[in-house]
Formats: sequence, C-alpha cells, structure tokens
Amino acid sequence: MTSAEATQPPLLEVRDFGLEFRTRSGTVHALEGVNLSIRKGEIVGLVGESGSGKSVLSYAMLGISDRAARVTGGRAVFGGLDLLQADERTLADLRGREISMIFQSPRTALNPIRPVGQQIEDVLRRHAAATGPDLGTSLRQRAVQALREVAIADPERRVHAYPFELSGGMCQRVMIALALACRPSLLIADEPTTGLDVTTQAAVMDLITELARERHMATLFITHDLALAADYCDRIVVMHAGHAVESAPSKALFTGAKHPYTARLITSTPGERSTLADLAPVPGALPDLRRSDLPACRFAERCERASDRCRTERPLLDAGVPHGVACWHPMDGPAPGASGARESIGWPALAATPTASTTMIPTHG
Ligand SMILES: Nc1ncnc2c1ncn2[C@@H]1O[C@H](COP(=O)(O)OP(=O)(O)O)[C@@H](O)[C@H]1O
Ligand code: SF4
Ligand SMILES: [Mg+2]
Repeated sequence: MTSAEATQPPLLEVRDFGLEFRTRSGTVHALEGVNLSIRKGEIVGLVGESGSGKSVLSYAMLGISDRAARVTGGRAVFGGLDLLQADERTLADLRGREISMIFQSPRTALNPIRPVGQQIEDVLRRHAAATGPDLGTSLRQRAVQALREVAIADPERRVHAYPFELSGGMCQRVMIALALACRPSLLIADEPTTGLDVTTQAAVMDLITELARERHMATLFITHDLALAADYCDRIVVMHAGHAVESAPSKALFTGAKHPYTARLITSTPGERSTLADLAPVPGALPDLRRSDLPACRFAERCERASDRCRTERPLLDAGVPHGVACWHPMDGPAPGASGARESIGWPALAATPTASTTMIPTHG
C-alpha cells in the first residue's frame, strides 16, 4: 500500500454487519456487529478459529450465501455501493470482475470436465466489456498469458489440461489466474493454501501477495493460521464466534495483542522453534451460536478477565483507529509468552520473551 492509498477512504467498509441462519435446530447467530475495512493495495488477514464466521462474512458480501442466511443489519460498502442492498444482477456483474474469490479446494471449485484454459476464457468472455478493448489478442492468447502470470510452466500446453491432470498446487495457481483474469480491485482468498504441502503453500502465498502488491489490489486473506497471516498481511482482523474482536497492523498485534482471545491465539500458534510444551490451546470451545443466551462478549465464558459487564454489554470494535479492540478489560503493553509464532515471523527482539507455557492472561483484578 502506498502512502497515498493509506490516506484514501477504504475500498471496502463493513459496518455493524449481522447475519443469521434459520435452521431446523434453531437460529444460528453467525455474525453480529462486524466492523472491517480494507484500503486499496492493502493485504488484510481475517483470522479466527474454524466456525468464527470468516467464510460466511465473505459469502454474504458477494451474495453467494446459503438460502438459510438472512442479513440482520449493517452495510458493506464497496466503491460507494452497499453490497448488502445490491440486486443479484449487480452482484453477478461485480463478482469475478471487481471482486474475486479464491476458495479452499481448487479441485472442487474448478469445473472437472472443462480444460482450464477454456474456464479462463469463459470468465474473460463473461466480463468482456469490463476487461477493456481486445487489442487483437484472442481469448486463447489471454488465457495463456493469465497462466503465465501465475508462473505455470509451458502455459501453451497447459491451457488444454483438465484439472485432474494438474497437481493441487497447480490447480490453485489456475484458480488464482481465474480470479485475477479481469484484474479485480478486491481479492478474497478463503484458506487458499489449506490442504497444500508447506512448500507449495509458501509458493502460493508468495504468488498471491506478489500479484496483489504489483497490481495495488486490496486482498482479504482468510485463514485460521495466525502465523501465516502475520507473515503475509499488513493488518490482521481477529474474529471470534461471529464478532470482529481486534484489528491492528500485523506486528502491533503480535507485539501487543490487546484482546485476551488474540493473546491466546498467539500462544496456541506453533512457530519454527516451539515445542509441543510451548503451545497452550485457547481454553474452552466456541459457544454454540444457536443459543439464545449468548453472553454479550461471546468470549466471556472462555476469558479469565470477564466481569459482569462483559456478559451483558457488548464491547464494540472501532475499526477506524490503527489498533482497535472490542474488550472491556483489554490487555496492556506487550503480551507475554507466544515465543513460537513470533520467532517464525522473524522478529528477533521478541524471541527473548518468556516461553509460551507461561500463563498468557493475568488474572483479573
Ligand atoms: N448454511 C449454514 N446453515 C447454518 N449455519 C451455518 C451455515 N453456514 C455456516 N454456518 C455457521 O456459521 C458459523 C460461521 O461459519 P464459517 O463462516 O464457515 O466459519 P469459518 O469460515 O470461520 O470457519 C458457524 O457456526 C457455522 O456452523
Ligand atoms: S475481558 Fe470481557 S470483554 Fe474482554 S474478552 Fe474477556 S469477557 Fe470479553
Ligand atoms: Mg471458512
């Protein structure tokens, strides 16, 4: 992100976003009062345990939610347009052109019975008007070029390949080529490296972030892996049980997490030199989001700092400040512990902190 981009209004601004699912076993209160913003050229990590609402947030913004989903409030303004109010036609036109998404399992996201080159051509054709004048370049040539840009070797031959003929890492590269074919201004990558081996994971992350930087593309990188987000993102937004609880530049988050849940997540994140004994899992489990008696701060039942106020009054996240936290009793100063994850992201000053087996959360009082 350039300094000019840093002063511009956000490209995407989510405010007070609520979402629920009506199911036979009750209403799932999946998101409540979520605040989040992304600027042009910024890479933001959306992090939290599985089930914290990261995926449903992005699906709802793109209008691809499950039928049981219902937006209960808020707005998600992208380039002046509230995505939550937009009709399906407008959203269909935006998807793939202005906002693109990369999913977790490329093999299931790709059409198994169509060569990958044709799948890229389909996207280019669908958004032909938006992808600029065709300066004599055929769709096939542009598909080849798209594969070349994601570093697929021998793209002239590979455009004819079916997904089953490609490795998992190669399929993910094709997904990236598909997502970026129309040069979107916002990319949402939902767990794009889950299921890939560590080397391929790094290569795919390098590729996404290099292309994002080169094109000044805003990127929302969704992951349950805090260390991976810290390695690649400018800023991290932490989600817990459908609430956005902390938002800060990556380094500030690791050096001084303010939310007790973030602090616990850091301690539970393995680093290069951490041993099993260093890791302390987040206590308890995510609350059942179908409950009608959820505490106002949904972390209250897992939190050693909880007071009565936490159970009855929801703390709000101010997404407008550089380091925002939704907590009535935030932690002060550098968080102790969490050596492993910090070492892995290469901040030597932090490596001297006590081992993560020390209790992260001081008792309240
Ligand atoms: N179609 C659905 N019907 C009911 N509940 C759903 C549905 N999709 C997601 N949820 C619930 O919404 C919450 C958030 O899910 P999700 O966004 O997939 O989590 P994450 O991506 O953070 O792992 C979870 O409690 C999940 O069970
Ligand atoms: S101190 Fe209270 S508001 Fe903060 S995380 Fe714990 S329960 Fe939630
Ligand atoms: Mg998910």
